[in-house]
Amino acid sequence: MPDDVTVIVLAAGGGTRMKSKVPKVLHEVCGRSMIGHVLAAVQSTSPRQVVTVVGHQRHQVGPHVQALLPECVLAVQETQLGTGHAVRIAVEALSAPPSGTVVVAYGDTPLLEGDSLRAFVAEHEAAQRAVSILSGVVPEPFGYGRVLRDGSGEVRGIVEEKDATPEQREIREINSGILAFDAEFLIGALPRIGNDNAKGEYYLTDTVGLAQEDGLVVGAWPIDDVAQTEGANDRAQLAELGREMNRRTVTRWMRDGVTVMDPATTWVDTDVVLAPDVTILPGTQLLGATAVDEDSVIGPDTTLKDCEVGKGARVVRTHGELAVVGEGATVGPFSYLRPGTRLGAGGKIGAFVETKNAEIGEGSKVPHLSYVGDATIGRDTNIGAGTIFANYDGRRKHRTTVGDGAKTGSNNTFVAPVSIGDGAMTGGGTVVREDVPPGALAVSAGPQRTLEGHAERRAAQAADEGSPEDRETAGEHSADPGLGSRPPVGHNPD
Ligand code: UD1
Ligand code: CA
Repeated sequence: MPDDVTVIVLAAGGGTRMKSKVPKVLHEVCGRSMIGHVLAAVQSTSPRQVVTVVGHQRHQVGPHVQALLPECVLAVQETQLGTGHAVRIAVEALSAPPSGTVVVAYGDTPLLEGDSLRAFVAEHEAAQRAVSILSGVVPEPFGYGRVLRDGSGEVRGIVEEKDATPEQREIREINSGILAFDAEFLIGALPRIGNDNAKGEYYLTDTVGLAQEDGLVVGAWPIDDVAQTEGANDRAQLAELGREMNRRTVTRWMRDGVTVMDPATTWVDTDVVLAPDVTILPGTQLLGATAVDEDSVIGPDTTLKDCEVGKGARVVRTHGELAVVGEGATVGPFSYLRPGTRLGAGGKIGAFVETKNAEIGEGSKVPHLSYVGDATIGRDTNIGAGTIFANYDGRRKHRTTVGDGAKTGSNNTFVAPVSIGDGAMTGGGTVVREDVPPGALAVSAGPQRTLEGHAERRAAQAADEGSPEDRETAGEHSADPGLGSRPPVGHNPD
């Protein structure tokens, strides 16, 4: 029965070396939890059922697994008595005993690839073995179970580090931990596993010796790419696996036609999608579910998380999250795109501009030094330099609407809720508190007062030192004479 596969993922261990309140298997590598990577790889065996064994911090691990794979069965192992015990609990958690092939994997091997797992299962089934070991030959086998072979190269068993003789410790072929079983054999073997060993644990690896005793076929399938079976036990290993996965991801994108100027400083999460002829400049992180369409140039020094960038767009030195950048649009340098930003085709968000919940229509531009929050801007509109969309009145957020083809002056404040009509204009320094109809010009600053001879008067005053009046006004020279102070206008930094 080639397509009757049950996968058991072991994830009950403590992960103490992570020194974390976050369970080990929930630590992320390239934007996905380690166990999330494993569960994704497992899918390529088209499993009939998947069981995850949880124990330590199971109230965090369990819901995470079920969110990723709702049909996954959770088996609870209260105390970690060994891998053999864990698998027994997994089998007992199934509504019916497994048939066909049972694959055991660990929840902390993020680099594991579906293709390798599928090939391993195919090989196991073709050879009609009771047990197959996914093994690997490593330079430093310390800590691993060693694969024992006889004179003719036949696999005889697995011996754990702590139980191994000095000669056995020299063996460099190790058990990766990934095993495939004939289900019927496994069900019979599990109760026969004892715990009379150096760790006092029920070793799943004892099944290899048991199959031998029964005269059944066992074998090991060495994987060339050992990294795929490596787990992360501490943060240093986590970072190493992350760097390796990123290297693989970036290499794959380059092979698919993406230009990456500096792979070492480019980070691309697993779920990111890039089109051919995208160019990524140094210091760029593309995270989460970010998608970039062809001919776009991203970077340098840009972080985009869950963003969508259209064809031929340019995003320079920008931090963006949950934002959409239209075809041919330009962003940056030094722009901050917050969730709900949607920049239309050919539009521009320029230097030192922050946007949030802002729809900026096709061809519209916010070129300089502005905050655009809770706004709808039509097409072909230009927002003047230094404009604040004052969206917060201290209690609630309000929306500002600007129509098509509008031109607003520099240093404006739009006190929401307010709307500026199609083709309308505003003067420099305008505080817009009332709607501006289409085609109108709004100005709010009073007429300019020019006080002639001011400098001379000041010089004369300064010469007249010691006068009490002088001391009183010291330090106030920057106050704008003759103009009333601006009424307070809320702008929430949130
Ligand atoms: C195990 C293997 C060893 C192999 C190595 C690869 C056994 C006896 N040994 O050793 O041959 O080379 O993995 O990394 O199987 N777990 C549970 N419940 C338990 C015990 C473990 O869920 O009661 C889980 C752990 O969370 C972990 C995995 O099983 O994900 C392996 O457990 P660990 O204790 O790390 O096994 P090793 O001693 O490293
Ligand atoms: Ca281990």
